[in-house]
Amino acid sequence: MEKNAVIEAIIQRRSIRKYSSEQVADEILEQIVETGRFAPSGGNNQSSHFMIIQSRDVLAQLKELVENEFAKMEIRPDTYQSIKSSILQSQKGGYDFTYNAPTFIIMANRQGYGNAMADCAVALENMMLAAVSLGVGSCWINQLHWLDDNQTIRQYLYQYGLQENETICGGLSLGYALQKELPPSKRTGNPVTYIR
Ligand SMILES: Cc1cc2nc3c(=O)[nH]c(=O)nc-3n(C[C@H](O)[C@H](O)[C@H](O)COP(=O)(O)O)c2cc1C
Repeated sequence: MEKNAVIEAIIQRRSIRKYSSEQVADEILEQIVETGRFAPSGGNNQSSHFMIIQSRDVLAQLKELVENEFAKMEIRPDTYQSIKSSILQSQKGGYDFTYNAPTFIIMANRQGYGNAMADCAVALENMMLAAVSLGVGSCWINQLHWLDDNQTIRQYLYQYGLQENETICGGLSLGYALQKELPPSKRTGNPVTYIR
């Protein structure tokens, strides 16, 4: 069966972890963000907050803070593998949790709202699909979600619009991929059960 453009975008999307320094133009970025805003939300709450950072200074300060905060953390036997990797890379130095993407979007939502993460996740997926359809690379980034309780990071983000009653659900790196071709993704996991 021929695949339509939406299905093509879903299958083509890959997590991009090497970006060129070329910035995403405003009209392209705004289209991508609009697709996030058009995502469904529980009870049509529309409370997902999109914080879009393109300032080099803010990105540099945020990376430094994230590196400092992870570097202070202790690895325990039950530390989640990806957090452990962030801690180790931060302790080594030179850690860039955004993969040097020129645009970074923080997704926040109301604390205590049961669909906070789900609403942000559907918005993130819409933006990732819109991005790939426009030739823009993206990667879901969870470091700020893991640091949601970290007061240093929160205080820094308050000045840029994070609300005290918001929880950071995820992040998104956006930019142009340095590698032109990525190997096609394989899906060997995910149990699928049809009951017909
Ligand atoms: C909830 C969630 C959190 C993720 N967090 C990160 C992350 O912090 N850093 C990262 O490099 N990739 C992250 N990813 C991307 C996954 O590693 C990636 O989707 C997976 O390896 C499959 O690769 P693909 O996206 O290229 O198909 C995350 C993806 C999801 C859905």
